[in-house]
Amino acid sequence: MTDLMDRFARKARPDEPELASPDEPSWNVPGSGAADRGAPSSRGPGGRTPRSSDSGGDGDEFATSPEFQEIKGRLHRKLLEGLNLALLGQRNRDEAEEEVAALVRRLLAQENTPLNLGEREQVVEQLVHEIFGLGPLEPLLKDPSISDILVNRHDQVYIERDGKLVPTDIKFKNDRHLLQVIDRIVSAVGRRIDDSSPMVDARLEDGSRVNAIIPPLALDGPHISIRKFRQDILSAEDLLRNETLTEAMLEFVQAAVKARLNILISGGTGSGKTTFLNMLSESIPHTERIVTIEDSAELQLRQPHVVRLETRPPNIEGEGAVGQRQLVINSLRMRPDRIIVGEVRGAEALDMLQAMNTGHDGSLTTLHANAPRDALARLETMIQMAGLSFGEAAMRRQVASAIDLVIHLSRHSDGRRRVVSVAEIVGMEGEVITMQDIFRFERRGLDPEGRVVGAFRASGIRPRAAEQLQSVGIDLEETLFTDLRSGSR
Ligand SMILES: Nc1ncnc2c1ncn2[C@@H]1O[C@H](COP(=O)(O)OP(=O)(O)OP(=O)(O)O)[C@@H](O)[C@H]1O
Ligand SMILES: [Mg+2]
Repeated sequence: MTDLMDRFARKARPDEPELASPDEPSWNVPGSGAADRGAPSSRGPGGRTPRSSDSGGDGDEFATSPEFQEIKGRLHRKLLEGLNLALLGQRNRDEAEEEVAALVRRLLAQENTPLNLGEREQVVEQLVHEIFGLGPLEPLLKDPSISDILVNRHDQVYIERDGKLVPTDIKFKNDRHLLQVIDRIVSAVGRRIDDSSPMVDARLEDGSRVNAIIPPLALDGPHISIRKFRQDILSAEDLLRNETLTEAMLEFVQAAVKARLNILISGGTGSGKTTFLNMLSESIPHTERIVTIEDSAELQLRQPHVVRLETRPPNIEGEGAVGQRQLVINSLRMRPDRIIVGEVRGAEALDMLQAMNTGHDGSLTTLHANAPRDALARLETMIQMAGLSFGEAAMRRQVASAIDLVIHLSRHSDGRRRVVSVAEIVGMEGEVITMQDIFRFERRGLDPEGRVVGAFRASGIRPRAAEQLQSVGIDLEETLFTDLRSGSR
């Protein structure tokens, strides 16, 4: 018998945190592990009361039944009484999970309620998630087809799948249960969430980015937003295949990276900026030294010579924070060939632009904006955050001379991400920065299935940057900028 089972007889410490009090029905997870709804079935297994629940499939039906919740609650209580969670936490997670699962199976065997194998395994799985993981979120975290998880309330969880937001029937038992899961997430990264610090950014073990916000700031109860970390980052081929951009556009932007143009990737939330930045950075030669600066490390560069820096939030006493600006300044002393800032948000924009203007060409960054022009306006606002008194014209000149290309992405209503504009900054006209589109996506409308109809087009203008490209030996065909046969629908 294993250590864990031996220890089962021992009492848990009285101050042991209880993840979810097991006395009420807690949450249900569709048997498929995902949140899809099947056709409701009226059959109640083993003569149990049939439910008219809206979750589909036999497994789902069982998972929402009072019997299931009752058994699970009872076993959960027994587990919490008997397990030493602190000791468990020190074990190899896979082994510990296996042992708890074996334990639950043994306890189940002693139950009077007749359960079939599938039902037993559902109880085992949910209890293991409750003890070790993030409870109801676990199946969503494991499902690779889900990119975002948005918990609006304890009983309302949305996911993003294939670029679209859809509701699930995943539920937490109550606000307290949800708060316990949040607490688990934030305490794992040495932070806390409470009245005095009701907003927290954190990262899960697998790299997923998490934001949690609780009352009084969140009016309807605790809230979590999770951007899942994708191990299989989208490659240039993937983006061509799913028509994020065309071959001609790709060829140009990759050449721009090689020729050390300074590139700003802009777009709305979740429009694919980080993904695009990752893909673009593949074109940086392996001989160059790259320094990356991020709030939450998401970039996955494959080059050998990379230094990754991440900001640090303040500690529990509110001290020790290290922001992006400090990291950008520090990075300049690290002899970088390229600086990549995951997302510019504030005063670091000034230092980044100054670096671009003083020999650190080839820098890449993303910025949250709804249009390429907005991106430039936002950069100006960020420069002002640095607290220096810049005249407007001086500020614009700084932007215009630092940034060479603005690549703007959109997430369209059909769930697809597209590069809607690749624009070059060509200088200033009076007080206005002049930009010209080299490529753009022209949207014509929606087809009957709700898909966006449109086409990528070259503007026909040969970019001024073509000369800079030539100077490093990249001679792009003239037709690239005039002819876009590879344009999509
Ligand atoms: N071109 C694309 N095609 C298909 N899926 C994509 C594409 N770009 C991004 N995605 C997916 O969309 C989600 C959001 O992508 P990403 O994190 O790159 O967006 P973002 O604009 O950086 O978001 P945020 O504003 O939150 O930082 C991810 O799950 C990613 O895998
Ligand atoms: Mg991003």
